[in-house]
Amino acid sequence: MSRIVLEAAGLRKAFGGNHVIDGVDFRLAAAELVALVGPNGAGKTSFLNLVSGQFRPNAGTITLGGVDVTGLEPKSHKRRPLFRSYQNGGTFGKLTAAQNVAMAGLVRDMDRRSAEARAVEALKRVGLGPVADWPAERLSGGQRKLIDFARLLLASPAVALLDEPTAGVNPAIMEVMRSIIAEMRDAGTGFIVISHDLPWVFGLCQRVVVLAAGKVLTMGSPDEVSADPRVREAYLA
Ligand SMILES: Nc1ncnc2c1ncn2[C@@H]1O[C@H](COP(=O)(O)OP(=O)(O)OP(=O)(O)O)[C@@H](O)[C@H]1O
Ligand SMILES: [Mg+2]
Repeated sequence: MSRIVLEAAGLRKAFGGNHVIDGVDFRLAAAELVALVGPNGAGKTSFLNLVSGQFRPNAGTITLGGVDVTGLEPKSHKRRPLFRSYQNGGTFGKLTAAQNVAMAGLVRDMDRRSAEARAVEALKRVGLGPVADWPAERLSGGQRKLIDFARLLLASPAVALLDEPTAGVNPAIMEVMRSIIAEMRDAGTGFIVISHDLPWVFGLCQRVVVLAAGKVLTMGSPDEVSADPRVREAYLA
């Protein structure tokens, strides 16, 4: 097994009596891509929120590159190795595409000039070079999701958490996303990718973790998980 870049142990989160993450153990290795799937409300986004610090766990620990980050603020410098995208966007409409991307460099202590230069390079890589100076609000939903991918390239993180990157995007954009993820994964980034598009994400990942009602229902290779009748049941429930 190669180097573990992210580990969650005994993780729990409840809101009132609603146990949204109910005892999850999880390890991610460098250069590994795990698909996190499961029905609506299973707790997938909540799990990312715990890892990235938006939620504080009620129990359990989270380590990033061997460093304990449990309960630390999202912007803690100890979380620097982590990159996160959001299910509901995360771009600032009035800022240009390039300014949106450059923020990923500024929060990592890059100076403004080099962050902006690298933002333009990253936007070219995702196919948004021609609209780098447009306000993000003029871009399509799929193009705004590509802004996240330009940020991801700029951040060059040890661990990347992507929450439904392909929701509502066209096949050409999905292919750009696939190639960037594969390239960065092969260069060593560990990925957790949430997707409801099982053919797309199963074609990309080494391992699938199925979450249902806050628990790991099963995990395995895409073939193993596809053949598991409990998975079909969880999706139909
Ligand atoms: N901030 C919050 N306060 C209270 N309950 C929450 C909060 N965030 C999530 N939940 C609850 O946690 C449960 C899991 O939600 P979560 O968004 O993690 O699911 P999901 O697997 O990402 O679903 P989807 O596929 O629809 O995105 C739901 O019951 C939801 O209502
Ligand atoms: Mg979600």
